[in-house]
Amino acid sequence: MNMWDERYSANDTVYGVQPNVFFASQLALRNAGTVCLPCDGEGRNAVHAAAQGWTVSAFDVSPVGVQKSQALAVSRGVDIHVEVADAFVYAPDAQFDVVGLVFAHMPEERRAEFHARAWQWVKPGGCMIVEGFHRDQLGLNSGGPKRLDMLFHEATFAEDVERAFDDATVVWNARCAQVLDEGPFHQGPAVTCQVVIQKK
Ligand SMILES: C[S@@+](CC[C@H](N)C(=O)[O-])C[C@H]1O[C@@H](n2cnc3c(N)ncnc32)[C@H](O)[C@@H]1O
Repeated sequence: MNMWDERYSANDTVYGVQPNVFFASQLALRNAGTVCLPCDGEGRNAVHAAAQGWTVSAFDVSPVGVQKSQALAVSRGVDIHVEVADAFVYAPDAQFDVVGLVFAHMPEERRAEFHARAWQWVKPGGCMIVEGFHRDQLGLNSGGPKRLDMLFHEATFAEDVERAFDDATVVWNARCAQVLDEGPFHQGPAVTCQVVIQKK
């Protein structure tokens, strides 16, 4: 059992059942369409998007997370397509209006590759919505990787996506000091990066 399966098995909920606030607020600005949620954990964001009328494709490498997502969707009476998949193998049949990366942190040597793959899943005219921990999160106890190389900084998405692809424009890029309240594992003062990248 991997670390995520153990964590999801040992806790009723890890990041809660409410959606990430930044992701939900960005989604609310857009007409409902198709959304892809890589690394979606226990499904809080997938289930929220489906309840707002979006057609949801989600995946996670953790089978326990995926089972919990399916159960949450059933309990809320919404349909989501969720599967066990590795972000470095996942190959959707079609692109999406929105790709949401919520606390999807990869080791530095694979980070740009992951972001480039996820960018390919966005339709022309669509966008990528991201929230992840900033490097200034190191030393705080409200969640996130304990490795500097897995954390983001202000230029992460400019470097990985905007400068790498000529169809990408970073339209929102904020370092956000906030108090997180997302289940038992994301509680308290935190520093995140919130990013929106628009595809031409
Ligand atoms: C911090 S959790 C975030 C979960 C969810 N996005 C949320 O905010 O509630 C990170 C998730 O990434 C998943 N993950 C890590 N590496 C992955 C990979 N290569 N492919 C798919 N999922 C992965 C883990 O299983 C875990 O569920």
